[in-house]
Amino acid sequence: MIKDFLKKYWYRYVLGILVLVLVDLSQLFVPKLIGQVVDHLKLPNPDQKYIWLMISWIMGIALGMAILRFFWRYFIIGASRRFEYVSRNFLFEKLMSLTPGYFDQNRSGDLMAKLTNDLQAVRMALAQGVVMSVDATFMAIMTVFFMGSTVSWRLTWLSCIPLPGLAFVALFFGRMIHRRFREVQREYSSLSELTEETVSGVRIVKSFSANDRIHQLFNERSQRNYQSAMSLARVSSLFFPLMTFFAASSQILALSFGGKMVINGTVTLGEFIAFNSYLGMLTWPMMALGWVLNMIQRGRASYQRLMQIVNETPQVQDPKDPVEIEKIEHVEFKNLTYRYPGTERDVLKNVSFSFNRGDMVGIVGTVGSGKSTLVRLLAKLYPVERGRIFINGVDINDISSENIRKLIAFVPQESFLFSDQVQRNIAFAQQKIDFEKVVRYAKLASVHDEIEKFSDGYKTVVGERGVTLSGGQKQRVTIARALYTERDVLIFDDCLSAVDPETEEKIIGALRKNYREKTMIVITHRLKVLKDADMIIVLDEGKIVEKGDHEQLIELDGMYARMFRKQMIEEELECE
Ligand SMILES: Nc1ncnc2c1ncn2[C@@H]1O[C@H](COP(=O)(O)OP(=O)(O)OP(=O)(O)O)[C@@H](O)[C@H]1O
Ligand SMILES: [Mg+2]
Repeated sequence: MIKDFLKKYWYRYVLGILVLVLVDLSQLFVPKLIGQVVDHLKLPNPDQKYIWLMISWIMGIALGMAILRFFWRYFIIGASRRFEYVSRNFLFEKLMSLTPGYFDQNRSGDLMAKLTNDLQAVRMALAQGVVMSVDATFMAIMTVFFMGSTVSWRLTWLSCIPLPGLAFVALFFGRMIHRRFREVQREYSSLSELTEETVSGVRIVKSFSANDRIHQLFNERSQRNYQSAMSLARVSSLFFPLMTFFAASSQILALSFGGKMVINGTVTLGEFIAFNSYLGMLTWPMMALGWVLNMIQRGRASYQRLMQIVNETPQVQDPKDPVEIEKIEHVEFKNLTYRYPGTERDVLKNVSFSFNRGDMVGIVGTVGSGKSTLVRLLAKLYPVERGRIFINGVDINDISSENIRKLIAFVPQESFLFSDQVQRNIAFAQQKIDFEKVVRYAKLASVHDEIEKFSDGYKTVVGERGVTLSGGQKQRVTIARALYTERDVLIFDDCLSAVDPETEEKIIGALRKNYREKTMIVITHRLKVLKDADMIIVLDEGKIVEKGDHEQLIELDGMYARMFRKQMIEEELECE
């Protein structure tokens, strides 16, 4: 990532560094000029004109430096911002190319931190890091050189003795301050996380009468936040006095030895004043050396973390020469045994079944029996070994994910809406909203009437700052979103669980009636919904235990029949 970037933008760095060196050089002449003014003032009859000339020079240099400073900042800081921009987009795109398995294993908070903190650390190293290391090294060498050559080498060495102390303080304290600062940030985010969760989960907190417990938790975290802030304050309050101590010691050395030299007449007063300004100018590069080492170290560590994302390969690999599928005519699962990447347990065992275009397939079973896993594999969200799933007789591994997702509309078990208008949620990922289509599918998903009643109808914003939809409303909006894509295969993963049974039956029934030619895979806990299904698969602990249509399964009088009878009785009880 960095290599490509530097290859493209090296000239900006070269230009920036050149300008930076120019600024440093001009800066170095100022004390010399001031020294000359002082010595001139000591002459019996100083020439006013000469002094004005010198002042104009100093002003001219200052102006030139101001302009040049703009340019090196523009070149170097600008380049690093460019790096941040390009890499952030690149990383985001990379993340989007990864499959859900990656996100099972990496918490979103960590990913957020990588895209913000780590990227920032790399940017800092590329901007301030580069600038400071060039600036500090060059300035330190040149200043010492000017001091030694124009005043006295002996005085220079003597006065510089305490200066490495500055670099060490900057290095070690810098590291400590940074560590504690991170700690403060961590504590702070854990505190705000708790606050946010408690506020958004306030109904649960109240209904469980958990006020005291939450309050205690809050207090604990709040206290940790305070303590970490204090420990940071302690270190940073020590930092500046220490810096001043080293800087002042070198001034004292300069005064005591240099003063003697002025009295002896070895150096002039003007030279001595110039010397002192140079010494003051050395403080910064010394400190900078310490900071910069930290910065570059941090930048490297962050860069390595970012490269982990870059080097991540999607768990689902796309084939080199994909077979293009126009329509899904036939799907076959063949002895499919499956475990999730990085786990040790088979969640599907020897599953075999097949269906054709236009079929309605029901999948039922106890919780955790592998229903969702089965359809996730068909949607190619997780990798599956060869020879297990075939579409039109082609191994699913030979078909690109893109191709499959163009054919399948998948409504997952957890409904998720973006904080956006209802109509945009339904016409998700489309440039233009076809409003008629939106309404048509909202009607089909039996949610139109309710949307109409919202204050802004289809323009109502849902989510965090908008209207809170009920669980059932959310589910039906996500169904409308899937229908809007007008794919040939619809997969509903238990996505009507929060809707009352009659409405669920009505929605599935209407879909079935309207779309005879579409293939539907319906996972549900309400068996009545599946009475018209062409085939029902009953899963238990990853195995298919029964297979057939409603009548056949009732006749079989097994698990399905038992579950069905139980639901019938419950329904009757509810009616009474
Ligand atoms: N991303 C995942 N990584 C690892 N294991 C998983 C993952 N998702 C599900 N599992 C495990 O796989 C098994 C089957 O899960 P699955 O979600 O397919 O069940 P399900 O039949 O859909 O259940 P439910 O009716 O509760 O939705 C479970 O034991 C679950 O713990
Ligand atoms: Mg499930």
